[in-house]
Amino acid sequence: MKKKLIAGNWKMNGSLAANEALIKALLAGLNNPGCAIAVCVPAIYLAQVRTLVAESPIDVGAQDVSQHESGAFTGEISAAMLKEAGIRYAIVGHSERRQYHLESDAVVALKAQRALACGVTPIVCVGETLAEREAGKTEEVVKRQLAAVIHTNGHCISEIVVAYEPVWAIGTGKTASPEQAQAVHAVLRAQLAAATPNAERVQILYGGSMNAANAAQLLSQADIDGGLVGGASLKAPDFLSIIAAAL
Ligand code: PGA
Repeated sequence: MKKKLIAGNWKMNGSLAANEALIKALLAGLNNPGCAIAVCVPAIYLAQVRTLVAESPIDVGAQDVSQHESGAFTGEISAAMLKEAGIRYAIVGHSERRQYHLESDAVVALKAQRALACGVTPIVCVGETLAEREAGKTEEVVKRQLAAVIHTNGHCISEIVVAYEPVWAIGTGKTASPEQAQAVHAVLRAQLAAATPNAERVQILYGGSMNAANAAQLLSQADIDGGLVGGASLKAPDFLSIIAAAL
């Protein structure tokens, strides 16, 4: 059976001292996790956290990656740099980046391509806003977002991780019901299946107010292969409970 993946998205949170305390508490509480685990941390802490989790089951991810290979792109970090630093994952197309940094579907697809080319696994985020859900456009929106990545990445598409994150559920305490989430995950799985014979292998994560109380039910759905966890990944007991629910 495919292993589930529980990935924390720390967003713009942390400090040297807080990161060390959080990682130490996670490592102390992990006993034989039945799933893969990652923490996606602010760029300035990638090296610190990589050292803290060395020789442990926790992988490190970035929260973004440049769509460019190298050169005059002030402030950007390339996929090759992430790879060299031992970083396993890069979140691409998070709704906060689509919204606040105006990242288009095409840019997100290029970022995924750069990551894949360097051996960094992109966690490609898709998800509808509340207005889009209420207008009955959920399927159309997530399919459009994923189609751009499929189109750009061709046969490599089975190497990506997808995260379905309804924008209305992120940081709001509102979670998609397990049935609502599963319905969208099934749509995404079918879309992947039309593009690759290995669609079953692709981990499709749910994200949006996943917490210790709702994780088990969400993670028991047929096409939910893990979680992308924001707020609850900053508290060791909560993140450990979600990991424990991911068997
Ligand atoms: P949340 O964030 O768990 O705090 O809702 C999830 C995310 O944005 O990845």
